[in-house]
Amino acid sequence: MNYGFDGKVALVTGASGGIGRATALAFAAEGAAVVVSDVNDDAGEETVALIAAAGGKATYQRCNVAEPGEVKALVARAVQDYGRLDFAHNNAGINNMGANEYDDPVWDRAIAVNLSGVMYCMREEAEVMLAQGKGAIVNTSSINGLVGNGAQPGYTATKHGVIGLTRHGALRWAKAGIRVNAVCPGVIETPMTAPLAANPDMRKVIDGMTPMGRMGQAEEIAAAVLWLCSDQASFVTGHPLVVDGGATAF
Ligand code: NAI
Repeated sequence: MNYGFDGKVALVTGASGGIGRATALAFAAEGAAVVVSDVNDDAGEETVALIAAAGGKATYQRCNVAEPGEVKALVARAVQDYGRLDFAHNNAGINNMGANEYDDPVWDRAIAVNLSGVMYCMREEAEVMLAQGKGAIVNTSSINGLVGNGAQPGYTATKHGVIGLTRHGALRWAKAGIRVNAVCPGVIETPMTAPLAANPDMRKVIDGMTPMGRMGQAEEIAAAVLWLCSDQASFVTGHPLVVDGGATAF
């Protein structure tokens, strides 16, 4: 695909690995300058190095998305370094797999990172995009934003909340040239799911849950994010795009 993102600027949170790194690399491969952000600095710099090695342009800025001041500084850095902000992939997230999300600190952390983090990002990004009169935001939700997950109240609630925020932003800024969409990945092979994938019995269960019979790859989510950001999706806003190998097609 050639979207012709030369001269465009993209920001990706949670870009030190997994889906965020794949999106950052894909934006850069299409010509965009990328602001790579995460709380894992070494791996974030590694993403920047991978982009540079492939001939792309990127900078790293540490940002804990649960801290509104850090999010403000992140968006300011994009404008300072590259003069504008065209695309934002609000992707940073945690999955408290194995922890009891009914414990207050665990619940609070899920809300802070997965939900408040997306809101902080959206409101700062929108300020810049409003001034430009154009922009595209994609938030990472999950299939757990659409269907329940009996084990994880926090993850389920925050990922449903991300879709709510996405629809809100789409309506709020529809006439201002900003499109806001979400991606809803199924089970994707990333560091987040590595412990599951490494367990052969668990791997069999996961593969069996998905009609396509396999886990997804981060690049398959990145492809959806880039399409949502591109002018090919110029009439698409407020949409939770499911990329799950058929897992929610039942
Ligand atoms: P990952 O764990 O590889 O990547 C998440 C990144 O977010 C990490 O680099 C981590 O350091 C960063 N991060 C964590 N807390 C942060 C914070 N407070 N501020 C900034 N960065 C922070 O996981 P993956 O799979 O790439 O996840 C990306 C997104 O996709 C997450 O929002 C996740 O919930 C979502 N997702 C993942 C699925 C999967 O099966 N892997 C399925 C559905 C959704």
